[in-house]
Amino acid sequence: MALTPRLVRACRGEEVDRTPAWLMRQAGRYLPEYRKVREAHSLLDICADAELTSKVTLQPLERFDLDAAIIFADILLPLVPMGIDLDFVPGKGPVIQNPIQSPSDVEALKPFDPRDHLTPTLEAITSVRTQVNQDTAVIGFAGAPFTLASYLIEGAPTKNFGRVKSFMSNEPEAFLALMTKLREVSGRWLTAQAEAGADALQLFDTWAGWLNPITYEKQVMEHSRFVFHNLKGTGCPTIHFAVGAPHLIELLSQVGSDVLGVDWRLSIDEAWSRFSMDCAIQGNLDPTALLGSEQHIRRAVIDVMQRVDQRPGHIFNLGHGMLPQTPPHSVTIAMDALRSYEATAA
Ligand code: CP3
Repeated sequence: MALTPRLVRACRGEEVDRTPAWLMRQAGRYLPEYRKVREAHSLLDICADAELTSKVTLQPLERFDLDAAIIFADILLPLVPMGIDLDFVPGKGPVIQNPIQSPSDVEALKPFDPRDHLTPTLEAITSVRTQVNQDTAVIGFAGAPFTLASYLIEGAPTKNFGRVKSFMSNEPEAFLALMTKLREVSGRWLTAQAEAGADALQLFDTWAGWLNPITYEKQVMEHSRFVFHNLKGTGCPTIHFAVGAPHLIELLSQVGSDVLGVDWRLSIDEAWSRFSMDCAIQGNLDPTALLGSEQHIRRAVIDVMQRVDQRPGHIFNLGHGMLPQTPPHSVTIAMDALRSYEATAA
């Protein structure tokens, strides 16, 4: 019988032989082998090729003792088959040539089947699942409706989210229509990833922290809840991660995921004590800890683990994505610190 990956067991709050660990943005620019692939291929080229996607997904697992592979993709990929002209501009980030400006732009967004349009990512999930051992989980992911809506409306990096917030207040019906479309997109995309072989699914709500609790509860929460509710049929555990949202922690724990990811701003024990519904927890080493000395990295990892205090239902991770300037050796040190801590604490 196939083993259930330890990450999946921890998501369900079960006891595990060791704390499952993976790192957000574990594949990417801090790895020289990734930069080598990027010399010849753009980000979108990699995502359009199942073989390159699998290769890049597996790169961090070849170096580090991780418990999960997160499939290499981007939360913005599903916007392309909806009719959005997306590009990743070096030094700037994602740019959309035709952002949403009016209710008719929302209506024009096309429905699509991810199995027809995002096939390389799905094929890569199936392939990676056969290449990693049974104890290792393959994680699929998607952007949450609000974060996707923010990109669609803002079109380019923003400092204050003025466009999306004024769209929410000036065009509430069109915003609702947009969120309703996007929750379908995220839900179907994650379901397709589960069907392709993903063991766990993470929803990234990167920009939710820019909302106050009243707006989050009134115009956003139900749509993320819809996504999680519809994923129950997949049998895959779900992880919900919002950035910079300590003021939303109670609400986020009610959205319906099995695991809540906690960003680096809040101590993990305080975050856990503030959950208003019982869920497992993921996090939350500050990514900048990996820029420090060996001693600093070890102390920071131990601090997270001491705060968790051996409670079941913890997945070790960063409290946001890996920074591009992270020395890969720092990751080796962090993983060693984690395993040494567990060996002495046992
Ligand atoms: O191992 C992994 O986690 C890599 C897979 C991955 C990527 N994007 C590839 C990528 C994942 C999980 C994402 C998620 C993602 N993408 C999020 C949510 C996570 C978060 O950080 O909150 C968001 C907001 C995006 C949108 C996005 N994509 C931005 C803002 C940028 C540019 C900023 C930057 O870091 O340069 C991207 C580009 C991108 N997506 C890169 C990678 C590895 C870097 C650019 C490159 O390699 O050319």
